[in-house]
Amino acid sequence: MAKFKKILLTGINGQVGNALYPKLGALGEVIALDRSQLDLADADAIRGLVQSIKPDLIINPAAYTAVDKAESEPELAYAINAIAPRVLAQEAAKLGALLVHYSTDYVFDGSKASPYVETDTPNPLGVYGATKLAGEQAILATGASHLIFRTSWVYGAYGKNFLRTIIRLAAERDRLTIVADQFGSPTSSLSISDATISALKNWDESKNGLYHLVNTGETSWHGFAREIVARYSELQAEKNWPSLKTAVENVSGITTAEYPTPAKRPANSRMEVAKLANNLGVTLLPWQLALEKVLTHSDFDLAATA
Ligand SMILES: NC(=O)c1ccc[n+]([C@@H]2O[C@H](COP(=O)([O-])OP(=O)(O)OC[C@H]3O[C@@H](n4cnc5c(N)ncnc54)[C@H](OP(=O)(O)O)[C@@H]3O)[C@@H](O)[C@H]2O)c1
Repeated sequence: MAKFKKILLTGINGQVGNALYPKLGALGEVIALDRSQLDLADADAIRGLVQSIKPDLIINPAAYTAVDKAESEPELAYAINAIAPRVLAQEAAKLGALLVHYSTDYVFDGSKASPYVETDTPNPLGVYGATKLAGEQAILATGASHLIFRTSWVYGAYGKNFLRTIIRLAAERDRLTIVADQFGSPTSSLSISDATISALKNWDESKNGLYHLVNTGETSWHGFAREIVARYSELQAEKNWPSLKTAVENVSGITTAEYPTPAKRPANSRMEVAKLANNLGVTLLPWQLALEKVLTHSDFDLAATA
């Protein structure tokens, strides 16, 4: 039975929005919007739209996600990542609606030696992380019912992401060099969408809060790239995919210092997920199994990757 009357979903063309959309029908009537239907940089447009639709659940996976570009577009990133969630939360509070919002491991500076818990003090290293943190804080300040899910290293069959980039590069080149001194949990958009649906099924007001939501286990970007090349190579003949030029032993590690980027990234992105399991009864797959699931999923579109 539907738990919500009207669900407003933003960012339908993003990785998480795209994975969520087909699953939300089980929870209620879905109104899904892309950027052309709702520009999150326009606060008045957000207010007008939410007031006319009157949803009892708002899910906001849309965000300014270009981590490096954000360094030169801080105002736009702030409008989309901080002001828009504040306005969505203010409108949700007026309607008595629940707001589901996503945030990031990049709210942390990565200096902690162990996985981050929700109560650890954030200290973003770049504009993207700072604007996402401002979005979290703005939602909390409104008093709206909320689930804020901090996730990390998002990839999937669809969209611009590390999985698809590595397969493309490994098809073109003999060897790859990938950063090996940043550690975190690759998390599939499929896992995020499944976990969101499970959390919503188990949600009541007492479960409102900020949660870390990532596939379990940890690796470096180098470890993730090696696993992608290894698993792809194993599946390649069976799936009739184009072969790769890069052998797994030719995926080498480099340091962050050897791969400078405009935005600094945390060396430790690992996040503890016990709160999500304990309060909402939601557990995610180990990251290697989640990757396997994406590669073998019928939606995996290699044509768009190669
Ligand atoms: N990607 C990651 O590695 C990662 C890591 C940690 C946390 N997160 C968080 O997880 C959530 C989902 O990320 P994702 O990977 O699914 O992001 P994504 O694939 O980059 O999708 C973001 C979506 O936001 C939309 N958008 C951007 N500006 C907009 C605007 N002004 N108005 C309306 N829509 C706008 C984009 O629209 P267009 O399609 O038109 O561009 C896109 O559909 C975000 O909150 C993100 O911050 C992501």
